[in-house]
Amino acid sequence: MAEQRHVALYVTGSIAAYKALVLTRLLVKDGVSVRVVMTKAAEAFVTPLSFQVLSKNAVATDMFAGTDVKAVDHIELADWTDLAVVAPATADIIGKLANGIADDMASLTLMATSAPKLVVPTMNQHMLDNPATARNIATLKQDGISVMTPASGFLAEGYSGRGRMPEPEEIMRAIKDLRPRKTPLTGKKVIVTAGGTRERIDPVRFITNDSSGKMGYAIAEEMQQRGAEVTLISAPTKLKVPAGVKFVSVLTTEDLAEAVTTAFKQTDILVMAAAVADFKPVSSADQKIKKSADNDQMTIKLTKTADILKQVAKLKQPGQITVGFAAETQNLLDNAQHKLVSKQLDLLIANDVSKPGVGFNGDTNQVTILQPDQAPIKTTLADKHTIAKQVVDQISQRVQKEG
Ligand code: CTP
Repeated sequence: MAEQRHVALYVTGSIAAYKALVLTRLLVKDGVSVRVVMTKAAEAFVTPLSFQVLSKNAVATDMFAGTDVKAVDHIELADWTDLAVVAPATADIIGKLANGIADDMASLTLMATSAPKLVVPTMNQHMLDNPATARNIATLKQDGISVMTPASGFLAEGYSGRGRMPEPEEIMRAIKDLRPRKTPLTGKKVIVTAGGTRERIDPVRFITNDSSGKMGYAIAEEMQQRGAEVTLISAPTKLKVPAGVKFVSVLTTEDLAEAVTTAFKQTDILVMAAAVADFKPVSSADQKIKKSADNDQMTIKLTKTADILKQVAKLKQPGQITVGFAAETQNLLDNAQHKLVSKQLDLLIANDVSKPGVGFNGDTNQVTILQPDQAPIKTTLADKHTIAKQVVDQISQRVQKEG
């Protein structure tokens, strides 16, 4: 738990509040500094004094207490926090957190906290199943907040069901599984491109390719989760933009080239996962092209588009990292090695798209990662999120080396 030295524990009104005492003790035992915030309802079940004794820190309960004249209490605590844990989390605090309500010390401080958050819903099964609660929990997840699944078992109401607070040991494990707050990618400005560009033939037709955008989106999500400031520049896909990622929509290779070259100056890492059309029609018809008796055949004349990575190579400053992809159907390593050098890349992710389950359109991939100063790394066939993690691990190591 090296990166989570400062844990703010939010205790809200549930009989399970007594288990939060044990959680405090476990955290302190692990060398973590714990500061507790309690709601009024929590105080009906356990006293602030119990938490104060266990955490050896004052417990915050009142937003108007103003204990420190030199600081604004809730902002000071929010800034101190490496990780905020809400356990037990009632339907009420979940609703406030999901809807931006800040009317007591707990909700106010949580709103001011930019650190990662772990919420441990604890309530009667019927309250958990209430559509409003389900909606609010879904919102928390969309906002990038980690939410634990409540345990099943004997409830305080005297019958069995879902909604129990998981045991403190289990919450400790969930805390340890959270990603460390600071990674080599924290604060890095990253552009990820994704999807297949479209080149118009006429108002109703275009040339494109099989790219689904899944690999690029998975990389954007992984980068964001490791603390990077990610801009996803995407050609059309059917995918949802990952939470916390800035989105720029493009259609053609020209649009993409412009968006990338404009943003590149302010960028630490560029990942070109987009499948870029290499050719576009010389001209696109203003009106729909009609078939007629005398055009049994027709020819569309194509012209080469700009190679975006080659353009970017000319702008590249020391410290900037560029990552390319190479979808090949033959001579994978030779072709990929050539692209690594000719596009002056730091990493090249190559895949043999002629193999089943690899690359375009599916949910899985198998890649070989090439770098100028290292032997190629070949991954096994895995889902694209797993591959994204492996690719981002290598980018992260590169950042560490350069820094
Ligand atoms: N790329 C690019 N601009 C283009 C074409 C491709 O920046 N006009 C990028 C892709 O996003 C990818 C890498 O270059 O990261 C390699 O793309 P790929 O299509 O495999 O290679 P090409 O250079 O187009 O060569 P070829 O199609 O002949 O294999």
